[in-house]
Amino acid sequence: MPLLRDPSSLRKWRQQLQGSLAFVPTMGHLHAGHLALFRLAQARAEQVLVSIYVNPLQFGPGEDFDSYPRSLDEDLHKLGEAGCTAVFVPTDQDLYPNGPLAQTQVEPPARLSDILCGVQRPGHFRGVATIVLKLLHLVAPDMLVLGEKDYQQYRIVQQMLVDLNLSTQLLCGPTQREPDGLAMSSRNTRLSPEQRAIAPALAAELRQLCRLPANNAAESSAEASAERLRQAGFALDYLELRDSETLQPLSHTQPGARWFAAARLGPVRLIDNMVIP
Ligand code: PAF
Repeated sequence: MPLLRDPSSLRKWRQQLQGSLAFVPTMGHLHAGHLALFRLAQARAEQVLVSIYVNPLQFGPGEDFDSYPRSLDEDLHKLGEAGCTAVFVPTDQDLYPNGPLAQTQVEPPARLSDILCGVQRPGHFRGVATIVLKLLHLVAPDMLVLGEKDYQQYRIVQQMLVDLNLSTQLLCGPTQREPDGLAMSSRNTRLSPEQRAIAPALAAELRQLCRLPANNAAESSAEASAERLRQAGFALDYLELRDSETLQPLSHTQPGARWFAAARLGPVRLIDNMVIP
């Protein structure tokens, strides 16, 4: 499995590649959720490239860029075992030679990016859209695979592909969960044993909200769930019902609408979302 460490090796590798290519961008510290995205990519394309890069541009001041878990050797081992075609591990110098802030950036539409996670993390989705576009130009894949757990990210990238006339096909891999329901995330390893025991309550509340009958008032149900989560020890950033396509708020439950939540346990910020069946 070639380890491509800079854009020029990636380009050379790409030029000689035969067959369809699916691309799974990651920030590393790979878990079963990433491997499920990888398997989706493998099922849909002849070749799969995974990138591992912790993108400084999508972290705000005081966020967990420095403490974000990194485990390159184990990641490469997992990808090798899984049968990955190649891995791209660029450096900051390759992607942001003049520093991340001193370059052209991609500004997603405010109606998608200034809401939900964009409220607590201003500029986060500009950083995501910018790195994803840069990677797409470098990798030139037929397909891009993103996870449903980061649904707002998925929608913003989907919109970017349309708005910037990119022909890459976007695939969305379903959220992978621990047996107790907690959505898999690289950040979960930073939870203390006590926080880890509390964490599944977030998914449990979302599941319960998804079971409400259609036309139920969203705000009062969300407030009751939010209160239970606060009692359990979460600091809640948001718990909201929104349209899955426009991401605009909905006042009443309806099939296809989506509950979104973000909450902190100590230094760890967890996000999750579930669609009403
Ligand atoms: O979802 C992630 O891990 C990141 O936001 C991504 C898409 C790899 C861009 O840095």
